[in-house]
Amino acid sequence: MILLAPAKINLFFQVLGKREDGYHEIASLYQAIDLFDRLFFSPSSQDLLTSTDPTLPLDESNLIIKALHLFRKSHPVPPLHIHLEKNIPIEAGLGGGSSNAATTLKALNQIAGFPLPSEKLLEIAALLGSDVPFFFSNGCAYCTGRGEKFTQTSLPTPLSGWIVKPDFGLSTPLVYKALKPEDYSIKKNEILFPLFFNDLEKGAFRLSPKLKEMKQELEQDFKTVVMTGSGSAFFCLQGSPKKRIGMSYFPFKTWP
Ligand code: C5P
Repeated sequence: MILLAPAKINLFFQVLGKREDGYHEIASLYQAIDLFDRLFFSPSSQDLLTSTDPTLPLDESNLIIKALHLFRKSHPVPPLHIHLEKNIPIEAGLGGGSSNAATTLKALNQIAGFPLPSEKLLEIAALLGSDVPFFFSNGCAYCTGRGEKFTQTSLPTPLSGWIVKPDFGLSTPLVYKALKPEDYSIKKNEILFPLFFNDLEKGAFRLSPKLKEMKQELEQDFKTVVMTGSGSAFFCLQGSPKKRIGMSYFPFKTWP
């Protein structure tokens, strides 16, 4: 079985405050894009995870393995060889790891003959990470809570542009940690689209002044340049890419 795991971008991202449990309350419009990892599932004599990316940890810290173990707490699954074709940049805010985890849960449920209802899959997804439940949506959703609660929606027209990934990544917990209360948004109970912004940029730029410079450079080439999730990648609209040092470019369209 071969399944696609799409990346996501956050068209707007509001951080609303810090919670007692250490997470931050957010409100964000998540949108899947046509940049995909591929996951291959095949029967095996023992569990095995392989990947095209030699830098990825393939142990218990990998969300694919965590998804497999959590799923098995609810229902047995035979041993599997899972191969990951990694195309989505990591530590980029593109949700690659979360998408891999959601796709694994979908695959395991299919392999086992659909024993778990979608509510149970979403419960497991939320345990794996704040962004994982979104990947059970139709590809466009308004997400709240720590990101795990979603309401499906759709864009009036598809979007296309460029993902620009700096040659360094950012750690999600460190970006949140670098935020100050004055960086938070006032919650607007509405879809703010077509406003494009990300409150996490303030934390990310404090952590990495180089990233702020990169945004300013990209703003010479595109009308809209906004960081996705906790970075370090930007989505760029209305413009064309120029060769710039230390940046990789990926064309994208909203998906499906
Ligand atoms: O949920 P996930 O495991 O992806 O979160 C990783 C880390 O990012 C959390 O441990 C927390 O430090 C931070 N985070 C947060 N608020 C959120 C989501 C993540 O503070 N809404």
